Formats: sequence, C-alpha cells, structure tokens
Amino acid sequence: MSSSFYSPVNHHPSSDDSQSSKLPLQNIPGNYGLPFLGPIKDRLAYFYKQGQDEFFRTRIQKYQSTVFRTNMPPGPFMASNPKVIAVLDAISFPILFDTSKVEKKNVLDGTYMPSTSFTGGYRVCAFLDPSEPDHAILKSFFLSILAARHNKFIPLFRSCMSELFTNIENDISNKGKADFNTLNDSMSFDFVFQLFCNSKPTDTKIRSVSDGAKLFTKWLFFQLAPLITLGLPAVPNFLEDLLLHTFPLPQFLVKSDYKKLYDAFYVSASSILDEAEKIGIKRDEACHNLVFLAGFNAFGGMKAWFPALIKWVGTAGESLHRRLADEIRTVVKSEGGVTLSALNKMSLTKSVVYEALRIEPPVPYQYGKAKQDVVVHSHDAAFQIKKGDMIFGYQPFATKDPKVFKNPEEFVGDRFVGEGEKLLKYVYWSNGRELDDPTVENKQCPAKELVVLLSRVMVTEFFLRYDTFTVEGHAFWHLFMGFNSYFANTYLMFCRAQQRGWDPKVVHFMGFFPYVKIQKPKAQ
Ligand code: HEM
Repeated sequence: MSSSFYSPVNHHPSSDDSQSSKLPLQNIPGNYGLPFLGPIKDRLAYFYKQGQDEFFRTRIQKYQSTVFRTNMPPGPFMASNPKVIAVLDAISFPILFDTSKVEKKNVLDGTYMPSTSFTGGYRVCAFLDPSEPDHAILKSFFLSILAARHNKFIPLFRSCMSELFTNIENDISNKGKADFNTLNDSMSFDFVFQLFCNSKPTDTKIRSVSDGAKLFTKWLFFQLAPLITLGLPAVPNFLEDLLLHTFPLPQFLVKSDYKKLYDAFYVSASSILDEAEKIGIKRDEACHNLVFLAGFNAFGGMKAWFPALIKWVGTAGESLHRRLADEIRTVVKSEGGVTLSALNKMSLTKSVVYEALRIEPPVPYQYGKAKQDVVVHSHDAAFQIKKGDMIFGYQPFATKDPKVFKNPEEFVGDRFVGEGEKLLKYVYWSNGRELDDPTVENKQCPAKELVVLLSRVMVTEFFLRYDTFTVEGHAFWHLFMGFNSYFANTYLMFCRAQQRGWDPKVVHFMGFFPYVKIQKPKAQ
C-alpha cells in the first residue's frame, strides 16, 4: 500500500454507491432566509464577505452536515429560483451523475441560463438533458469527430506547445517577462481550431491566435459574469455586484465577436459540417454547437485547467520534479519519443495529473434537478430530496473529502500510483467518475481521455525542457511560477554572492535567461 493510500469510508462501505445503507433519515438542515433578501445576503457572503470555500466550510460546521440548504448565486434578478440543496462530500456528490435521478436540462451554469442568443438561438448540447433526443444525436456526433481525430492529438498538441515555449522565450527576451496564462490561451485556441478545422486560425478572418483567444474570452465572460468576481480594488463590491450579478450583460455587445468566430468555423470546419448534415443535423445548428464545443467546453476548460496544472506541479517541490524528470526522460528514451505508449508507461506523471484534477477540479460546480423523490447519503446520514429540488455540488469539497483522501489539502504527486489507483473513482473532474466513460446517456465530458492525455503531454514537455535548466542548477519552479520570480531570484543570488565577495557575473543562458555565475575563491 502506498503511503498516500487511505482506505476510504470504511465505516460505511455500502453507503458509497448503493444508497441502500441503514443510515438514519434526517431533515436537511439550513434555510433560505427571507425572500429576495436571503439570496442577496448569501450572494454577498459568497462573493465578498466569506469567499466560496469559507462560505461552504462555515455552513458545514454550523449544520454539522455536508448536505444542507442554501441559496446559490447569482439569485435576483438573474435566477428565478436560487434555492439549492448542497452536497459537499465524496459520497453524496455522485447523485449528480445519475441522470435517471437528476435532470440536467439548462443547468450547465447553475440556477440561471444565459440567453440562447449567445449560441445562435439554439440550446446547444451541454444544456440538454439526456432524455432530450437531440442530446444523443449531438453527443454521439462529438464522440465520433473526436475519435476520428485521435491521431492528431499528440503531434498537434506538441507543435502548439513548442510554439508556446517559443513565445514565452521571445517575451522574456523582448519584455523581460512572460505571462503563462495569456500565452496558454493562445496555444489552446490554436490547438482547438486546428483540431476541428482544415486550416490555421491565421488563414481565416481571425488575424492571430491571440485575437481568437480574446474573442472567445470576451464571449465566455458575457455568459459567465454572474458567477465571477473580478476583485478589482478600484471597483467597490456593491458596484461589481450590481454590474455582474444582478442583470444579464447584453449579448449585442459580443454579437460581432461571436459572428467572427462562427464564420471562421463555418468556412474552415466544412468537412465536420458536411458529416453533421449527413446524419440530419442542420448545418447552422451543427456550427453553433461546434463553436460552443470549441469555445466554451474546450477552450474554456483548457484556459482554466492548464495554468492550474502548471501551478500545482510547479509548487510540488524539487524532489517530485527530479522523480518526474527521471521517469519522463527514461521512458521517452526507451520508447523513442513522446508517444501514446510512452505516456501510458509514465505512472508518476499520470498520477500527478490526476492529483491536480483532484485538488483543483477545473469546473468546480455541478447542478441537477431531482426527477423524483430521492434519498441521498452523506457519510453519516440520509436525506430525502423532493422531486423538483435543485441539487448543487461544489466539487473541490467532494474531491478533498478527508474521509476519503488522506491529507486532502496536500498535493501528493504519487497519490494515484499502484494501490492508490483505487481512489480514482473519487476523482470527479469530468462530471463523472474517473473510471467511468462518457456516453450519450450521461453528461460526462466526451473529451475526458483527451484532456488527461494533453495534460500528460504538457507535463512531459515541460520536464523534457527542464533538462537544460538542471544543467545550470536553477530551481525549476521559477520557470513555472512566472519569469518575474525567476529574474528576482537571479538578482538576489547576484547580491548575496557579491556580499560574500565571490565575484559573481551575470551571464546569459540560451541568449536570454540570465544566471549568476560564481567563481568562489578557493578558501571558501
Ligand atoms: C480542460 C478541459 C476540459 C474540462 C475541464 C472539461 C470539463 C467538462 C465538464 C465538467 C463537463 C460537464 C459539464 C456539466 O454538465 O456540468 C463537460 C461537458 C462537456 N465537455 Fe468537456 N471539458 C474539457 C474539455 C473539453 C473538450 C476539449 C471538449 C471537446 C472537444 C469538451 C466537450 C464537452 C461537451 C460537448 C460537454 C457536454 C457533454 C454532454 O452534454 O453530455 N470538453 N466538460
């Protein structure tokens, strides 16, 4: 048994999935407060007074329960009914995956739904419940276009990653710093566009990948503003709350941006649209669905996920970095390259990716409306949820459940190696268990395997590059944490060495990475 493996929920082994244990039925604690004022009070606490984690933590303590009633933002006037039953542990959360018990119609963003004018007037696949016939048609279509492109995944992503590195390096040499998140957005846009289209984004009216990424970001912001807080010191909270969370932002302000994206996909993804028409999907409906898939699901997911992945791996410490670098270099050498078979042999790299998905699931919220009266179990009790009630899960609490994961707040790189693999059924990032597969009957991400694959490639590419950095003896995480800290550290090293009279010199590695070369006097 690996040190990070922890036998979960031994005290209620059967409560895990079967929902059939003999736990006592309890009333669901919590309340919604006064009409109108209660939801606004909860919204202000959630965004400004407490913040999300504290909001949930204090209520778990107050009610001594991981299942309770609360309002969820945005509330008035965006959502007609903000009342939810929150499920915040690893055992109750999976009720949200059971589409025989919960309805997933129009709940992608929670208790409100953005206007369909953002998607050409169509309710696209992600807003459909599997009981709606269009869900199966669209989802099986997506699964098939992904399957048809599987040979492109690794070479295309590696080529986009290589451009990402070049851009980082250029920015360092020109501006003295590089912003990973922005460059990652461009890389993600480039990858997604090329995956589905027969041309590069720059061959279309979208002039550059960074322009394309900005168009999608703006369009996403207009839909997701009710769930976002910008934290700008210059904008008072009440003003931000009024602007972002009270009324929908008008769609016409992004109409032309969306049109540009739609036109680019309409022209460049013609082979996909031809296939869609053959199976009876209208061409424009297929294209609006494709833009949503590319911009919201894929680009939006990668925009949130890759920076988080890099952050967690980067801060995991040098000993893990050494082990990762060892594994990656050894396997890539023996397999003769970064291939699928090589990636499958990297057990630590795989575990590191799962651990990051566990500790910071990129899509933290899931919603579903009870289709019938259902009994939901937490670790300690059972609760009856009435038909029509909205169930809400805050995933980071479910995947950091201390009764399932030992040291849940800690990033344990090898948590899922060996025996630890048994815990993968508690990793829920894809809106399903990591051991389950996306189907037309469920709402699990159809790109589940692709996302895990790309994440492994990203870690692999970083550690293949790290090779050059170890030669110079620099701490790897400076690269990850942004080049500002890299330069700051170089400066500090220089000052320290000068104080000690070691005759330091700043030299440049690969032409632009400054490092401190020290000639220590022999006596020292
Ligand atoms: C890091 C990247 C990604 C993350 C984190 C992610 C996550 C998710 C999650 C959590 C859901 C469920 C949403 C819900 O109903 O609550 C979902 C659904 C979906 N995702 Fe992904 N996804 C990613 C990338 C992609 C990519 C690359 C594609 C397509 C190429 C894709 C296509 C979809 C589609 C179509 C759905 C709706 C499924 C359905 O309606 O049954 N996703 N994704």
